Amino acid sequence: AKNVGILAVDIYFPPTCIQQEALEAHDGASKGKYTIGLGQDCMAFCSEVEDVISMSLTVVTNLLEKYGIDPKQIGRLEVGSETVIDKSKSIKTFLMQIFEKHGNTDIEGVDSTNACYGGTAALFNCVNWVESSSWDGRYGLVVCTDSAVYAEGPARPTGGAAAIALLIGPDAPIAFESKIRGSHMSHVYDFYKPDLASEYPVVDGKLSQTCYLMALDSCYKQLCKKYEKIEGKQFSISDAEYFVFHSPYNKLVQKSFARLVFQDSVRNASSIDEAAKEKLAPFASLSSDESYASRDLEKVAQQVAKPLYDAKVQPTTLVPKQVGNMYTASLYAAFASLLHNKHASLDGKRVILFSYGSGSTATMFSLQLRAGQHRFSLENIAAVMNVGEKLKSRHEFPPEKFCDIMKIMEHRYGGKDFVTNKDISLLLPGTFYLTEVDSKYRRFYAQK
Ligand code: ACO
Repeated sequence: AKNVGILAVDIYFPPTCIQQEALEAHDGASKGKYTIGLGQDCMAFCSEVEDVISMSLTVVTNLLEKYGIDPKQIGRLEVGSETVIDKSKSIKTFLMQIFEKHGNTDIEGVDSTNACYGGTAALFNCVNWVESSSWDGRYGLVVCTDSAVYAEGPARPTGGAAAIALLIGPDAPIAFESKIRGSHMSHVYDFYKPDLASEYPVVDGKLSQTCYLMALDSCYKQLCKKYEKIEGKQFSISDAEYFVFHSPYNKLVQKSFARLVFQDSVRNASSIDEAAKEKLAPFASLSSDESYASRDLEKVAQQVAKPLYDAKVQPTTLVPKQVGNMYTASLYAAFASLLHNKHASLDGKRVILFSYGSGSTATMFSLQLRAGQHRFSLENIAAVMNVGEKLKSRHEFPPEKFCDIMKIMEHRYGGKDFVTNKDISLLLPGTFYLTEVDSKYRRFYAQK
């Protein structure tokens, strides 16, 4: 199979959200901390009728319907998620309800978990399957679904919720350049979920930022090395049109891209002009530890990177700024933002993606885009996703009500023997929702 990659995309996020400005005031944070300091506008969350299973049921059903895909045509289904609902039964098996109805139970794949990286692992599995000798000619389907919630405190504004579905096959408008790729995996305790009675992670915020940037540097170095070996010339940020990052919050994305600009300047790459090189030169001699700690470097690099950031990164930031951290779906929601904003001008362009999951696992990889045809064209993908309309039609909650819902969800987590409130008025027609968890912990869903 040639040009294996992403044929179709759909995204779902809850209609329930809270403005960061309102949350900031409610939390007693200084004005601008969440909006400018973290760079976030709004945050989506699951109300008590939604969860990672209902969101993934919704997004898969929508994708199959809107692109006219026969459920029998799916041969592999992989889910990435870090939201644990069951320690054994995969989310994938819940999604089988969609396919069993059509007589298709011959579908490989289960769930992949490691913080925000599970979606990328699932994606690589599907792409590898289509490229392998066990491929049977059918489509792969990847689902990234997460609800990111934090205990009250500084991490709470970095939550979010969404599910993304990606259809995988040959001759894709979004094709993998599988050889141009770099990974960095290591053992760190930056963000983890050891308390099985709670949905909330244990997180060392500052350490997680540094681990993210260290993994980014390492992946970029690996990717450059591999590119240079294959192409016989230096790779720099000029060799890709856009850079898409896993987005816990926008400020980290700004810092990340600045880091790549700094690396290019240290490598004396052609992407950086003389004036910028001069500004960054004083930092070239810092050890890597010193460089992560240097606030001056951070400031100067962000300033130098600003015009390039506006051109190569800003178009990828819409959904993450509006919906928040979607964990496994975050990177792909950023990519969906790019398709939404730039679908008409992406033909022939290379896009670099950076996936990070705490713990930690990270990969930087490359995609080649073509306009595509008919239902599998970038133009149709943007139309189907309809991101603008979805963002507009949401319902803003006041902070007090959001906190009440978080309390209910804390109480419900891991629980049994309850029915949800029957108010589904905010959900769009066709949305799946949780109706009941019975005395044997079995979960039941219905479609509006
Ligand atoms: N106006 C403008 N900016 C402000 C204001 C203000 N009034 N107040 C603070 N800021 C800025 C700060 O200067 C800082 O920006 P800087 O880093 O550019 O200097 C930013 O706002 C955040 O302020 P901090 O004091 O650093 O925030 P705090 O430590 O309270 O929390 C954190 C931030 C650590 C990100 C927290 O939200 C968290 O732990 N989140 C979860 C962990 C996370 O997402 N990690 C990312 C990688 S791992 C993953 O994806 C889960």
